[in-house]
Amino acid sequence: MASSKALVLSWFVVSVPLLVIFLLFPHTATILCPSISFSPQQQQALESREEDAVGVSREDLTWVSSQMANAQLGDPPKSAEDWIQMRKGINPRTREEQLYDLRRYHGISHYEESEEKNHTRLPCPSELLVEQHHSNYGEPWAGGRDVFEFIAKASALKRHHRVLEVGCGTLRVGLHFIRFLAAGNYHCIEKDPLSLMAAFSYELPSQGLLHKRPVIVRSDNLEFELLGDNEYDVVYASAAFLHMPDKLVWTGLEKLVPRIKPGGRVFVSHNIKFCSRLGGDECNKKLRELKLEYVGKQTHDSLLFNHYEIWHQFVKV
Ligand SMILES: C[S@@+](CC[C@H](N)C(=O)[O-])C[C@H]1O[C@@H](n2cnc3c(N)ncnc32)[C@H](O)[C@@H]1O
Repeated sequence: MASSKALVLSWFVVSVPLLVIFLLFPHTATILCPSISFSPQQQQALESREEDAVGVSREDLTWVSSQMANAQLGDPPKSAEDWIQMRKGINPRTREEQLYDLRRYHGISHYEESEEKNHTRLPCPSELLVEQHHSNYGEPWAGGRDVFEFIAKASALKRHHRVLEVGCGTLRVGLHFIRFLAAGNYHCIEKDPLSLMAAFSYELPSQGLLHKRPVIVRSDNLEFELLGDNEYDVVYASAAFLHMPDKLVWTGLEKLVPRIKPGGRVFVSHNIKFCSRLGGDECNKKLRELKLEYVGKQTHDSLLFNHYEIWHQFVKV
């Protein structure tokens, strides 16, 4: 009896002060009990998550919010001055300053030898290292993930599918397809040398995706034959057709549609003025001749910014 009293007393002596500490200084809870253990239900949910699952679940959002709360991050600063105030012990550089530093000092620890003895296996131009090309198309780079998730879900994308992007630019969207698909199954036709340089010299190596062997060709006139004899499950043009003359889009589609599998999908972002400018009847007639059926218009929201994008979907019949 005496020993059980002592046990209860010692429990109080240990737990009550700890409880008070946790209540007064909640941050200590994350130090003493880092939230890296999962409940059996969480563990099961993690394990049962499909390998091919694309997108963010409610649990993902709850988890990331809880991690930010644990880290006591609070709300982000509201003004430019407040952002600067937050940079304690951080050495922020604008892209221009970073470029200047790279050119002048080649990074903090650098070899003094001449350029011929460069130790880099795949030397990347400084302009690309500072990721200037992430702002090449106006929209935030992160929007590329939104496009991938929208198309992957809308087309029930599988790893073995073959996908063609028309005008992939710097792979803002393409990187996500390349990572998801089996090696060799992402193809792109692009005309801009600067974008292709960024894709090959910076994006693919820095994302560890060279082994995925994407097939990316340079062409001004949608010469799909350069991509070899392939049949596609999904074709998409993200902000690309609207930058091309209507005539080129139509001649391109004539060459492209025979390379799409029956039932294969075509997604075109923003608008289909190349078709609507012809007038409804003529537009429908041309689509019918090509064996393309208009499925409809959809929009998708961005995960990270309050933005939506319009997509037109077609199916090869
Ligand atoms: C606004 S950017 C979009 C890039 C990428 N699809 C994205 O969403 O990030 C349009 C891209 O279409 C490419 N483009 C324009 N005309 C083209 C053509 N005739 N053939 C191939 N690509 C073309 C441009 O070079 C540019 O990279």
